[in-house]
Amino acid sequence: MSEPISVTSLRELAQYASKAGQEGQTGQDSREVELSGWIDNKRSSGKIAFLKVRTTGGVVQAVASRADLPEAAWAEVERVTQESAVRLRGRAKEDKRAPGGVEVQLTDFEVLSLTEDFPITPKEHGTAFLMEHRHLWLRSSRQRAALRLRSEIEQAIRDFFYERDFTLIDSPILTPAACEGTSTLFETDYFGDKAYLSQSGQLYLEPAAAALGKVYCFGPTFRAEKSKTRRHLMEFWMVEPEVAFLEFEGLCQLAEEFVTYLTGRVLERSREELKVLERDTAKLEQVAAPFPRITYTEAIKLLNEAGNPIQWGDDFGADEETLVAAKFDRPVMVTRFPTAFKAFYMQPDPDNPDTVLGLDIIAPEGYGEIIGGSQRIHDHDLLLSRIHQHNLPVEAFQWYLDVRKYGAFPHSGFGMGIERFVAWMGGLTHVRETIPYPRMLYRIYP
Ligand code: 4AD
Ligand code: MG
Repeated sequence: MSEPISVTSLRELAQYASKAGQEGQTGQDSREVELSGWIDNKRSSGKIAFLKVRTTGGVVQAVASRADLPEAAWAEVERVTQESAVRLRGRAKEDKRAPGGVEVQLTDFEVLSLTEDFPITPKEHGTAFLMEHRHLWLRSSRQRAALRLRSEIEQAIRDFFYERDFTLIDSPILTPAACEGTSTLFETDYFGDKAYLSQSGQLYLEPAAAALGKVYCFGPTFRAEKSKTRRHLMEFWMVEPEVAFLEFEGLCQLAEEFVTYLTGRVLERSREELKVLERDTAKLEQVAAPFPRITYTEAIKLLNEAGNPIQWGDDFGADEETLVAAKFDRPVMVTRFPTAFKAFYMQPDPDNPDTVLGLDIIAPEGYGEIIGGSQRIHDHDLLLSRIHQHNLPVEAFQWYLDVRKYGAFPHSGFGMGIERFVAWMGGLTHVRETIPYPRMLYRIYP
């Protein structure tokens, strides 16, 4: 008899499955396979046991029959507990009702490591408890679906830029100066000097855009803002494209194309995950260009008419974002914000110098701002005066000013926070479930 074939994915498993309705219906003629994993769930009648085994390739349904198994193997089936590590052998056969369409009939079974008292059981647990056990919570089906969705979105992001000839530029994490306002910086000691964890890779991308034209960065960014909302993390991943000679209109189009591309990919390739997360996909099917566009000034009018007391010059909070988004059936682009509360590097609007050529994209269903971007100031003296106005240390920005000294060029870019985008796609209520180990206000364990 030949040795069983070691299988590490559901796709591989399906290849060795006997076809339903054919001669091999019982699975007796198919090759024996071997799989390793953890017990997700066990139901046993004393004669027959149904095991859901979370293998490296996904959850596999296995059936153990006392009559067909060696005595020792059946004893192992009897004692095995949730989350024990196991190795099993069996024959696969097609079964439409099983996850992945295949069921394995066991021929042998071995407990590699018996788990006792796994803290997370099928009963309800509070969020604090689950967060404390995040390292184990990851094993649950919802969390697995969320992380697979994130992984697919990250792959789609890389594909989007790769297909469009962007060059990936890895920006530094340790930086000598602020990018997005000085109040939200994590400070650290850099051999006697102060350094900060990066809030954004943007400033480092701009010189790279002069070298390579179309660039993007994708990495962790840090904000020490004491926000305890379902949209804020202290450490989050941001993807940021930056394009030379791209002006404001082109920027809006790029951002719109990006969001529709990613949504399309999720609908195409993450159906299983969306099902586990019980996402209403009809809402995502609506995401198509063109997105509605309104200026900040128009948004203020719209908010006031809806009874919100916001005044021209105030920044939006979560309430305002949600109210504006509720007026539209797809993401909305809000443009031309007051200069006063936006970052120092944003290009003034030629039609109204009190506003900037900035763009925010607000997601529907209360997910808030997913994208922030702008055309950048490319005039050296104007940028210098803004650095002074914002009380930023000019010495630290000398290199950034150099981009405006040697072949100044109009350019634009945006940043998208991955966690907010994943939360929106998956219909998750809080960004903490979109990242393996969330860093939140007063929580850095595990
Ligand atoms: O609007 P922000 O602050 O823009 C920038 O950092 C620019 N330098 C980007 C650029 O133009 N290259 O942040 C961009 C996005 C937000 O729209 C949001 O999706 C996300 O980053 N974000 C956060 N996500 C989670 N937690 C936080 N604390 C976040 N702060 C921003
Ligand atoms: Mg923003």
